[in-house]
Formats: sequence, structure tokens, C-alpha cells
Amino acid sequence: MRERLEQLKAEALEHLRSVADAKQLDELRVKYQGKKGKLTEILRGMGGLSAEERPVIGQLANEVRDAIDAAVSAHSERFEREETERRLASETIDVTLPGRKLPRGAAHPLNRIIEEIEQIFIGMGYQVSEGPEVETDYHNFEALNLPKDHPARDMQDSFYITEDLLMRTHTSPVQVRTMQKMDGEVPVKIICPGKVYRRDDDDATHSFQFHQIEGLVIGKNIRMSDLKGTLLQLMQELFGSDTQIRMRPSFFPFTEPSAEVDVSYRKKGAESTGWLEVLGCGMVHPRVLEMSGYDPKEYSGFAFGMGAERLAMLKYGIDDIRHFYNNDERFLNQFARQ
Ligand code: PHE
Repeated sequence: MRERLEQLKAEALEHLRSVADAKQLDELRVKYQGKKGKLTEILRGMGGLSAEERPVIGQLANEVRDAIDAAVSAHSERFEREETERRLASETIDVTLPGRKLPRGAAHPLNRIIEEIEQIFIGMGYQVSEGPEVETDYHNFEALNLPKDHPARDMQDSFYITEDLLMRTHTSPVQVRTMQKMDGEVPVKIICPGKVYRRDDDDATHSFQFHQIEGLVIGKNIRMSDLKGTLLQLMQELFGSDTQIRMRPSFFPFTEPSAEVDVSYRKKGAESTGWLEVLGCGMVHPRVLEMSGYDPKEYSGFAFGMGAERLAMLKYGIDDIRHFYNNDERFLNQFARQ
């Protein structure tokens, strides 16, 4: 028995020398010390030994087991160390290499211009509100002083859904909704960006769906000069401090007096400036105030509605309104923030 143990120890240690990795090491451990291992097998035979022999052999067996254990754990540590070194070497990062560029989305130019305009108005104390795109005939027309069969309804060719529901043709119904919600309270100072729909054949300057930004201010002693000052401030912040605006008399059933506003711009490379119409505006019609619960003898207000596409085309030099909707990446990527 003693010999078998000595031999086993020699064999195991010899065997250990040829072990190449952690897996083989584990196999070896099982082979000698596992439940059916060689050492375990020998120890099981100890029952047949005499009482004198048993402690001697037992001690020897312990020594053999400890020797194998020690050798196994020494190897195991070595493998772990080697593995760590290998990983450190293979996972080394060269921090001097240039990074890989992450592809980044771009804000759509329409969202960009709308956000910019919102920020300018928020700076002037306005609130941003929204309204539904499917509107009632009442909010879109009636309450804006456009009764049924009013000829001015033809100015805005509409998509009707039912007799009483339509895709809103402008953002002005949000004026009505806001006044109703405010219930006679002042001041009202809102802008409302959103989609509007008109029956139109699409071309470079027309689209059956486009964006407007509506503005409404109601209070005491609100005058046309307040409107003009507000719009001038907006355009100068948007296009530069030397920008001018000009107001031309116009007609809208919901404002009186009404005006259309042109903004000055310099064509690329050209000396002279041109004018581009960008919005409609006016003093809120007394009947409109009245219908939504404001006494026109006490309160006055101004309103405006501008085309977001027009402003974006001017600001970013875009020549065709369809670019906004084709979603051609070559177009959109030009608006990526660097
Ligand atoms: N709603 C008008 C349009 O779409 C623009 C407008 C808004 C005019 C507010 C006056 C006041 O043409």
C-alpha cells in the first residue's frame, strides 16, 4: 500500500508536468482525487489494514494528497496568471488611435426653425400651445368670422372629413381654442406651431400640407405698433440685426386692419435686397374677440400666422419646398450639427 501511494504521488507529479491548461489540470485533479479517482480508490482499501498500519498509511496518504493538492494549486495559479497576462496583452487599447465616428442624426430643418422661433418668443414671455389637426368647421372658420358660404372661405381650399370636420387650413383655430380656455382672462400671449392642410397641387413652392406658427396677444391697449415691433424683433433675431420688414395692407376676415408682411433678404452674391412674403397678421377683429368671450371695448389684440417652410427656405437657402418632405438623406445630413 505504501508503495502504491508513493508510486501514485510520483505518477501524479510527473503527469502534472505535462499539463498544459486549466482544463487538463481539472481532469487530472478528478483522475487522482475525484470520487472515482486513484487516490480515493487506494484510501478505500484502508479498511483491510491492521490497526498498527492504519495510522502510518493514513498519514502517508494525507501527505500524498497534500503534495498533489499543493502541486495542483501551484499550477492553477500559474495558469490564472498566464491567462490574465494573455488577456491584458490581447485587450490592450491603443489610446493614441483616432476614435471611430459615431453616426449622428440631424434635426430636421423645419423642427430647427420652429424650435428657434419658439425660443425667441419664449424669451418675450409667450407660451407655446397646440391644437388638433382635425378641426371643427366652427373653430376653423365660423368663430374666426367666416360664416358658411362666406366667399373668403375660398382663400383656403379645404379637405373636409365630414360636413362639420376638416383638416385645419391654418393654425388660427388655436386662437379660438385659447380664448375659450382663458375665459376672458388676460394677458393672452401664445404661439402655436403646427401642421396645416390645403387642397393644392404640390410644386416647388406649394404643398398640400405645410407648417404655420400662429401668434396671439390679447390685453389692454394692444396696438398695431406692438405687432410691428414684435415681428421686427423676431425677424432680426432670426435673420440678423439689419433685417427689415414691410407691412402691406391686406384682408383676413378675422383681423381688422390686416396686413401681409415681407422680410428683406439678400440674394446670394447679389448687391440688392429682395422682399419675401412670410406671414399674414392684423388686429384681432372685434367680432372674433366677442365670439370667444372678450369685450372688444375693453380689450384688443393682435394675431399673426407665418409659414415655417418659407422662413426655413429663406434662412437655410432651400429652393424647393418638396425637399422638406422627400426625406433624402443627402439633404437632411446637411443639417447635422457638427
Ligand atoms: N390664418 C391666416 C392664413 O393662414 C394667417 C393669419 C393669421 C392672418 C393670423 C392674420 C392673423 O393665411
